[in-house]
Amino acid sequence: MFLRDYWYAAGFSEEVGRAFLARTYLGEDVVLFRKEDGTPVALENRCAHRRLPLSMGKLIGDTLECGYHGLLYDCHGVCIKIPGQDRIPRGTAVKSYPIVDRHRYLWIWMGDPERADESKIPDFGWIDDSSYGVSNIKFRHDAHVQLIIDNLMDLSHLAYVHPTTTGSPEIAELARIETVREGETVSVKRWMEDVPPARTFREFGGYNGNIDSWQVSEFSPPTYIRVSYGSRGTGKGVPPGSWFDDQGHWGFYVFHGLTPETEVTAHQFRYIAFDKGIGNEQETEEFIRQCDQIITEDSVLFPVQQRAIDDDPEDTDAWNINEQVRLVHDGGLMQARQIVRELLARQTASNGNETPRDSAGAAAPR
Ligand code: FES
Ligand SMILES: [Fe+2]
Repeated sequence: MFLRDYWYAAGFSEEVGRAFLARTYLGEDVVLFRKEDGTPVALENRCAHRRLPLSMGKLIGDTLECGYHGLLYDCHGVCIKIPGQDRIPRGTAVKSYPIVDRHRYLWIWMGDPERADESKIPDFGWIDDSSYGVSNIKFRHDAHVQLIIDNLMDLSHLAYVHPTTTGSPEIAELARIETVREGETVSVKRWMEDVPPARTFREFGGYNGNIDSWQVSEFSPPTYIRVSYGSRGTGKGVPPGSWFDDQGHWGFYVFHGLTPETEVTAHQFRYIAFDKGIGNEQETEEFIRQCDQIITEDSVLFPVQQRAIDDDPEDTDAWNINEQVRLVHDGGLMQARQIVRELLARQTASNGNETPRDSAGAAAPR
């Protein structure tokens, strides 16, 4: 079971135009396209007649013609024409999903359309701020979405997975960690003082000596992650208060729209937002290259981790992966699980008849 009444990242706004884009979210096949006026549309990608994917048909104005027997649908998914007959059987329609352009993403509502509330779209507003440079990259992982959340909520891994860019041994060995839950959001704040800068910070922060540096990872349900990196020359300490906004002398933001594709696969749509004054065009390209290298290094982990979980004789799953071995670094990711567990229980209670299960389809731990 998935958390339903939420906006999920369907992709980047730029990905969808007048050509069909077929994707699966939460186990449901969807076709995306834009109307002639640019408004995005999301429909069930399965013809009401013989179930051919509608993405194999064609757009005629703002209507969609199935590529098999020519049923014609409007952009709400209602069949408006059947070739060779006047009568359209009642209920000849496909499901239509609310979908919204915001922060250079398309957000799709996978729950009850009556409850779609645009104020619940996450605040990724830095992406729209013209004073920032931005860059994006996407992945489809053969892994449970929780493994990606785990990765982003425990940045001690930078020391081992990203040692040639943002990682340094101090991030794992010396960082102080604070985990704070506020409502349904959990933040992990991790900071180090008077440490040598990792390569990315040395090159783009312009440091010659030691620095104070900090990272904040923030999870909000169902699967939104924002990360903020900050740093400054050592001596002033780490700024108090809202560390997410304060990046000191140099830092950058990372935004992740994570969407379960199925119970065992996931989409990851990532933006970075960085100071445009980072350097000349070549230096900016190098910064983006390093950021893309980092996420690519992570992407290698998830499918092999998932396979090892699947093969585990102890019947581990992505939800229960670290019940026995719980580290000081795991506080944030365990809190994120707890939040989802509570919301799944609430969703089940409001549905009235389902057993709480996590988004992998396994029973949620109690
Ligand atoms: S399968 Fe679409 S019209 Fe027959
Ligand atoms: Fe990473």
